[in-house]
Amino acid sequence: MAIGPIDIGGERLAVPVALAPMAGITDRPFRRLAARLGAPYVVSEMVASREMLHLRPLSAIRLRTAGDEALSAVQLAGCEAHWMAEAARRVEDGGARILDINMGCPAKKVTNGYSGSALMRDPDKALSLIEATVNAVTIPVTLKMRLGWDEGSMNAPQIARLAEAAGVRMLVVHGRTRSQFYKGCADWRAVRAVVEAVDIPVLVNGDIVDPVTARRALAQSGAAGVMIGRGTQGAPWLAGQIADDLQEVGPRPSPAGSELRDLVIEHYEGLLSCYGTRIGLRAARKHFGWYLAGRPGGADLRARLVRDDDPQAVIAALGGYAWPAVADDLADAA
Ligand SMILES: Cc1cc2nc3c(=O)[nH]c(=O)nc-3n(C[C@H](O)[C@H](O)[C@H](O)COP(=O)(O)O)c2cc1C
Repeated sequence: MAIGPIDIGGERLAVPVALAPMAGITDRPFRRLAARLGAPYVVSEMVASREMLHLRPLSAIRLRTAGDEALSAVQLAGCEAHWMAEAARRVEDGGARILDINMGCPAKKVTNGYSGSALMRDPDKALSLIEATVNAVTIPVTLKMRLGWDEGSMNAPQIARLAEAAGVRMLVVHGRTRSQFYKGCADWRAVRAVVEAVDIPVLVNGDIVDPVTARRALAQSGAAGVMIGRGTQGAPWLAGQIADDLQEVGPRPSPAGSELRDLVIEHYEGLLSCYGTRIGLRAARKHFGWYLAGRPGGADLRARLVRDDDPQAVIAALGGYAWPAVADDLADAA
């Protein structure tokens, strides 16, 4: 099953495989790495529209997309049309090529502020926010959402139609309701109702962790492409691998041995240069946990790395570790 290019309001995405926005994970160093490893499309972590207008330094870092090798979008979350429009203009002035609205985040911190997935409970409010955002900018606006608030209100197709009529150019649907948070399984079949409701491209999202699940999600949803989140933790190459598989250009093995070691060090150095040593060291800890999970001596090394405040010592320890010579996926297959 080869997938074809899509058009996002004039931006051509040759292979519709996207790295999902994940706050605290898919920051600029991670997106750059994923893009270098073949992810065709990457989305920034969500930036709260009001927070952004007060130009908090971390928000400014999250927004930077210049130099990304892949087509990239900046994601905004908000609950007031006025702030969304203001923030959208800033995002466009900052050079973003695509702006994504977050209508999927289930976190209480976000839904209590009446943004993220809470907007799906109030289609009129959602629409006013979408219209304000679309009308504020000339770049394409996309929307990411869930199936609905809960099982009794799976209104994603209705929101999708409203969004399309308001000028939204692409949708991403996570096949869960807000009430599910991350429990159960993503319902890719339910995403089909959104695909059939609109003419704009739809990406299916949720529980896609390898080429097999990507193909299954596409077949069940009829979507134009896929978006991959948690599967990329400790595997920034995954979106590239899935893109290759769906283009039928042959499998790209996961990195192993010295290639994997160099990649982990590249990621670490990227975090340090993005955030500075103090915050960079902290940001690296969760990634070390993912890279080393299930590896012989991995837990011990991680425990050592998180105690060490000297970047050179961390790099030396990473360099001295016996990274597996055979990629995990090939080892599994053997
Ligand atoms: C730690 C974490 C942070 C996330 N942050 C965002 C975010 O900033 N914006 C957003 O739209 N979705 C966010 N998501 C949701 C993901 O983009 C994605 O929709 C979800 O994880 C389902 O896809 P997956 O099963 O491939 O992970 C986040 C998810 C996780 C686990």
